[in-house]
Amino acid sequence: MTNIDYNALRADFDTPLYIYDFDMIKARYKAIKDQFIAHKSLICYALKANSNLSILKLLASQGAGFDCVSIGEVRRALLAGAKPYKIIFSGVGKRQSEIKQAINFGILMLNAESPAELESIEQIAKELNKIVNISIRINPNIDAKTHPYISTGLNENKFGVSIDQARIMYLNAQKSAHLNPIGVHFHIGSQLCDIKPIIEAANIVSDFTSELIAAGIEIKFFDVGGGLGVRYDNEIEPDLYEYAQGILGALKGKDLTILCELGRYIVANAGELLTSVLYEKQSQNGKRFVIVDGAMNDLIRPSLYSAHHGVSLASIQKPNENFSTTDIVGPICESGDFLAKNISLPQLQNGDLLLIKSAGAYGFSMASNYNTRPRCAQIAIEDGKVRQIGKKESFEDLIQNEKEFL
Ligand code: LLP
Repeated sequence: MTNIDYNALRADFDTPLYIYDFDMIKARYKAIKDQFIAHKSLICYALKANSNLSILKLLASQGAGFDCVSIGEVRRALLAGAKPYKIIFSGVGKRQSEIKQAINFGILMLNAESPAELESIEQIAKELNKIVNISIRINPNIDAKTHPYISTGLNENKFGVSIDQARIMYLNAQKSAHLNPIGVHFHIGSQLCDIKPIIEAANIVSDFTSELIAAGIEIKFFDVGGGLGVRYDNEIEPDLYEYAQGILGALKGKDLTILCELGRYIVANAGELLTSVLYEKQSQNGKRFVIVDGAMNDLIRPSLYSAHHGVSLASIQKPNENFSTTDIVGPICESGDFLAKNISLPQLQNGDLLLIKSAGAYGFSMASNYNTRPRCAQIAIEDGKVRQIGKKESFEDLIQNEKEFL
């Protein structure tokens, strides 16, 4: 994003402020969709990465489908204009009320993650007298070699079922008058820059799919999950062509619609968090801190996963050459409240502006009100024009569910 008057943005929307590049979001969606141009595919954007309604509307207008993990996400997608037949609903613990609503909305499919959950889906479908499309999440026991908190494809993880369990579940679903098993699904982890584990999983699940088809189960969707990594620091992003070819190769000619559940790949690098410098301070042992108005409640990734986000100067009042190493920390009462560590910055003063980069995915969507801090405003830049897509919360917003009990 170039030629942006960050001081004007602060004057209009305050800081911290999330800024999203809508042209980049469209381009990233198109880049992945184009890879499957000669094949049937549905790119289901994973709302968990960023569920801002205007981002969903933008992606729906490009033809995207949506991968949801709660009925709240399903409702967000519908509100933003998504077609029910392009919505899928995954998640390791769907409540019965959520299953019921999802069935009534007529979404494309529910993705079951355990035999007990599949029984619940069947029971509810029976009560509603409907036939429900389902897929089953297979845990292929593959090490995605990413941060342990975002690795999901090993037996020790809570997600999905083994192939042996899945086989029994598919055969039961085949016999059921209320279940229609149309998909196979896996997702082995997030922020994967090496796609070999995804392709390996695709091959395992594809072979299993052949077995299901041979047993007369009419699988139509091959859901490869999400997980494509992006560049935060020195990472090399996966090559989309190799990714798509690897998946198509794994299909070995089976005529299935490829479904991807990408979140981070589409939005991470299209978002930045603008934050104002409050103070500088030096500890007794000489350690330098730049204290800013953004904090771990706005962007928790550095605290939670030791994630790296680049930092750049958006606007400084007194340019100087006096660079030194510093941590960028927020006002929250925790030592874990930092946005960056050991980076080199010039001397700064109150009112200078910093940009925390690559914050479009798992930034605002993981924001909280910790320390009774409001969640900040969000804006979009599209075709060089700025528009607001989210308001900063007010104090009233934060207390509205409690004050009646005083
Ligand atoms: N599908 C399923 C079943 C998932 O669990 C996830 C992410 C996705 C798709 C989308 O993955 P993506 O394409 O965005 O990698 N908060 C963490 C990431 C958690 C990912 C959870 N599941 C972070 O900030 O890195």
